[in-house]
Amino acid sequence: MKKRDFLKSTAALGLSAMLPTSMWAQTRNGRLRTAHIGVSNMGGEDLKAISSHKSVDVVALCDVDSNALAAAKKLHPRAKTYADYRVMLNEMQNQIDAVIVSTPDHTHAPASMLAMEKGKPVYCQKPLTHHVAEARAMNKMAKEKNLVTQMGIQVHSFYDYKLATLLIQSGIIGKVSTVRAWSPKNWGYDGPEPTGSDPVPENLDWNLWLGTSAERPYKEGYYHPGNWRKLLDYGCGTLGDMGVHIFDTPYNALALDVPRTIKNKCRKPNGYGFPEHNTVTYKFPQTPYTTKTLKWVWYDGEGAPKDHKQLRLPNDEELPSQGAMFIGEKGRLLLPHFMELPRLIVKGEYKELDLSIIKDQSAIGEPVRNYASEGKKHYHQFVDACLGKDECSAPFSYASRLTETILLGVIAGRFPNKTLHWDSAAARFSEEEANQFLDAPYRDF
Ligand SMILES: NC(=O)c1ccc[n+]([C@@H]2O[C@H](COP(=O)([O-])OP(=O)(O)OC[C@H]3O[C@@H](n4cnc5c(N)ncnc54)[C@H](O)[C@@H]3O)[C@@H](O)[C@H]2O)c1
Repeated sequence: MKKRDFLKSTAALGLSAMLPTSMWAQTRNGRLRTAHIGVSNMGGEDLKAISSHKSVDVVALCDVDSNALAAAKKLHPRAKTYADYRVMLNEMQNQIDAVIVSTPDHTHAPASMLAMEKGKPVYCQKPLTHHVAEARAMNKMAKEKNLVTQMGIQVHSFYDYKLATLLIQSGIIGKVSTVRAWSPKNWGYDGPEPTGSDPVPENLDWNLWLGTSAERPYKEGYYHPGNWRKLLDYGCGTLGDMGVHIFDTPYNALALDVPRTIKNKCRKPNGYGFPEHNTVTYKFPQTPYTTKTLKWVWYDGEGAPKDHKQLRLPNDEELPSQGAMFIGEKGRLLLPHFMELPRLIVKGEYKELDLSIIKDQSAIGEPVRNYASEGKKHYHQFVDACLGKDECSAPFSYASRLTETILLGVIAGRFPNKTLHWDSAAARFSEEEANQFLDAPYRDF
């Protein structure tokens, strides 16, 4: 089924587009009624953070796992519950002001597009989508409908990351030529596809979990919950999972757009799981903060990153387990992931950070080391933006470009060691064989 038809057929079930966001604040007396799709694990965190805003009323909860739904309902007994987001959005479209999407990645776009089609602002977890074409479509729809949107990269609003951005843009290490970023997490799977099937647990609606993806027998421990990340049909591997957080600050600080070339050094594709180890090299065109070309190298999997002289720390210190290193004309800036200050390294030694180089001192803010309070900011910013009192810092216009960049590296994993050339204007690779992975058909479910 084509995505357009999916939207048409679901939209036909109910009335379409609602009041513009600015009018809700007036009609709803400054309150925001939220609906949550996917309510356990990260969805549970999202629900907690959104509902901690004093102007939010949680009116609808949706999950394909009845245990997850029952647990969320206990916290929000007045909310209506659903297993199918299409039914929820159709039945309650006049009672919902904003939608939070916290499902596995393959359901981000189908659920968010339907919500936006109905004129709803959307907070969608990262990475924004499973496919490049979906990221572009989400951005287009958000723009056309002028909707408030935010991607769930809550660390985007953290002090250390904002400080690193200001320092890089103030030229603390001159123009940047290279960024090296790493995570030793393993959201890949090199094993074989399991055979046979297991009984579907009574609490799970497997057909709805699969959603628009192809039918597949259920196997315990491979898909729900969490492990779907390792598999081609549902997640985006370690790069999609952690890369989207760790890429975010360099991407933002260096004002990057999409890359020109991408190469992934990894094992041969097995048609089922993402590689357990990836080294992805991107090349980006120049920006005001980079040298002529910006090279970006991502390492993931156990043991990442590989030793490199640009990653060696003074006094033979160990690298933080996850993070990014900016390499510039005048030195290096290390940005651990997360909640640690960036560190300046010049000629092999740590130097004090001179914050006076930042022109707009008011932009620096106060250092905060409390994840619980800091983490809420990104969510509350979304709620306030829906109520016309703030602006989102990671709207789909930004998130779709960042996600596209990440997904191009994920696609490069289908062509190990081959340099792919990306034509952003045409939204196509020069290597025709890679274009089939920019999109996927939707199953009618
Ligand atoms: N921003 C962050 O720091 C962060 C951290 C973890 C996860 N995430 C993101 O959050 C999302 C969820 O990850 P997770 O680890 O919680 O996954 P999970 O598999 O543990 O939980 C997903 C939840 O969504 C439900 N669900 C699945 N399909 C659904 C559907 N069609 N409709 C309604 N509910 C559905 C599941 O039953 C489950 O309750 C992913 O996109 C992930 O990348 C973000």
